[in-house]
Amino acid sequence: MKRVFRSTVLLLAVGGIATLVVTVATAGTARKHATIQACGLMPDTKTSVRWEQFDKPFLIKAFKAAKITARVVNAQGDPQKQKSQADQCIADGAKVLIIAPIDSGSAAAIEKAALKKGVKSIDYDRQVEGGVAVLYASFNGKTVGEIQGKGVVAGLKAKGTYSKKPVIASLWGGEEDANSFLFKSGVDKILNPLYAKGTLKKGPQQFVPGWDNQRAGTIFEQMLVKTGNKIDGVAAANDGLANAVVVALKRQKLKPIPLSGQDATVQGVQNIISGWQTMTVFKDVRTLATKTAEAAIKIIKGQKPPTTGTVKTKGRGPEPAYLIAPVSITKANWKVLTTGGFLKRSEICSGEFKKFC
Ligand code: BGC
Repeated sequence: MKRVFRSTVLLLAVGGIATLVVTVATAGTARKHATIQACGLMPDTKTSVRWEQFDKPFLIKAFKAAKITARVVNAQGDPQKQKSQADQCIADGAKVLIIAPIDSGSAAAIEKAALKKGVKSIDYDRQVEGGVAVLYASFNGKTVGEIQGKGVVAGLKAKGTYSKKPVIASLWGGEEDANSFLFKSGVDKILNPLYAKGTLKKGPQQFVPGWDNQRAGTIFEQMLVKTGNKIDGVAAANDGLANAVVVALKRQKLKPIPLSGQDATVQGVQNIISGWQTMTVFKDVRTLATKTAEAAIKIIKGQKPPTTGTVKTKGRGPEPAYLIAPVSITKANWKVLTTGGFLKRSEICSGEFKKFC
């Protein structure tokens, strides 16, 4: 009762001022009536912990610092939900949508409908093919793949298997994500010449639908069966897929093999320090969030946001882009993640992993 009363008083006090955010709390539920300037639309909570653990909080922080009223929501892998979240954002006054798409088709429709209402979009981390975004804010995806490919090669050399015609398997991301092809192109750039020379043997390769970590485990187990466990290294597109490989190897009582990842997650780093994963790719989402919030302000003011160049995005003209460089993380330098404040040492160095720190 007390709560409802307080909200009523607030509402009365606020009156018609639309810029204030008022939360009306009723028995256990909270509804937001807000006027916002920007919206962050995250894709899911399962394909990588990054969206909830890094992107969402860092975007919220960056918007706050940039003095933009904003909301960041997650569509839980449901394109319909992302569409209704976008609609709600526009209804609440958002002038910019920052969209990490689930698939290009649904996201392009969101962007086009938004533009009809004068709302501009930023493609966040993933390109929207056939979309109308005014900016693509991300990391250099091909470089991510190159770093992964080089990481697998370095792992083979360190293990002494590089000279023994090792079989390399690949778990690419979901085909509905344009990034998966960028990452693949980078890995291919490094590994294809080595396959062609016969230094490495090209093993099974598969895209993992929807980046589904569980599915990746099944796919990798099938790869093991198909090759009679003769897989000597894996180019896995992110830490979630890499962990599926680790779990499968452990279940089959097999030894660690060179294995790439991406996102610098706690789990990825734990797999690295315990010797099960060779490397991960650190994409500093803090920089991405800050640059994206700054770009959103420019867009709201009708100005052009800064770019590092343009990218080719299928189904549309050249897309202005702001691309950030990714960084390779191995056993040798993982501590930069904790000293730099991206991850907490206490999260990594807990339980069975304490002894590796
Ligand atoms: C992102 C990766 C992420 C993956 C799965 C990609 O588009 O760039 O950081 O691991 O999607 O969510």
